[in-house]
Amino acid sequence: MDFTIKPLSTHLGAEVTGLNLNDALGDNVLGAIKRAWLDHGGFLVIRDQSEMTTEAHIAFGAAMGPLFGAPDQDPLQDTVSRYIHPDYPEIYRVSNKLDESGEPLGRKGAGTYWHSDVSFREQPAAASILHAVEIPDIGGDTLFANMTKAFDELSPAMKETLRGINAVHDFEVAARTQYATPIVVENDMAGANQAVHPLVRTHSETGAESLYVNPGFTSHLEGYDADESCWILEPLYAHAIRPENIYRHTWSAHDVVMWDNRSLMHYAVADYGDAPRYMERTTCIGERPS
Ligand code: OGA
Ligand code: MN
Repeated sequence: MDFTIKPLSTHLGAEVTGLNLNDALGDNVLGAIKRAWLDHGGFLVIRDQSEMTTEAHIAFGAAMGPLFGAPDQDPLQDTVSRYIHPDYPEIYRVSNKLDESGEPLGRKGAGTYWHSDVSFREQPAAASILHAVEIPDIGGDTLFANMTKAFDELSPAMKETLRGINAVHDFEVAARTQYATPIVVENDMAGANQAVHPLVRTHSETGAESLYVNPGFTSHLEGYDADESCWILEPLYAHAIRPENIYRHTWSAHDVVMWDNRSLMHYAVADYGDAPRYMERTTCIGERPS
């Protein structure tokens, strides 16, 4: 298959054209996509997937790694189970639309804070793969911050200090400030929504070190009290989200974006009022961060 890869910024992201995810993709093509993704900082947009079936989305996701929601892979009930597609447990819906009975179809305002998907699990997300089915005419971009570059730009002394720290991630951090406390309470199974991870993680496929904390889900640093944790975390967040460290994705309909939660944070910009937006996501279960 003949597809083209074009960088989207100097430090993060590339665009793929000429690829049809509905085709049965062989190992060579899948390997080439994976390599291009890792080579471009863990962000690829595969354009023009208007023909992609839900089954093809799931098959592509599963080729990139075991999927959250897949009955054979993910024994945990998902924290946000009501937003799972009723016919496809691997598909998580991000949307502001309502279903026939007036219930939210997806999680409105999901991700309107800097975060890395499901970092509150012991094995958080590696790739998230988001299909833009319906997008507003204007607005609804998603921002991505390069946490490998952010770490790389620190001094050797700061890097060494941070390598020794663990961070506590807790879904309730987002739930308290954002949405749906009842959902967390309902599904707050033993430890499922809380995890401790190193503040600096080493990518299992590239070997690169990244900052692995995020304002959405990181509650505090192990052994530090809440204020002290902020003294360390807030300047790191400010450093990570400088404009030079960000790629801003303006969606076209039927973009399929694959990002790496091990090395990026992202933020959904909620600037489109009530204009309908509907996205479907598959999410790969990653390794335990180390
Ligand atoms: C997500 C997410 C961002 C967006 O799907 O994990 O944060 O812009 N989405 O919808
Ligand atoms: Mn997200």
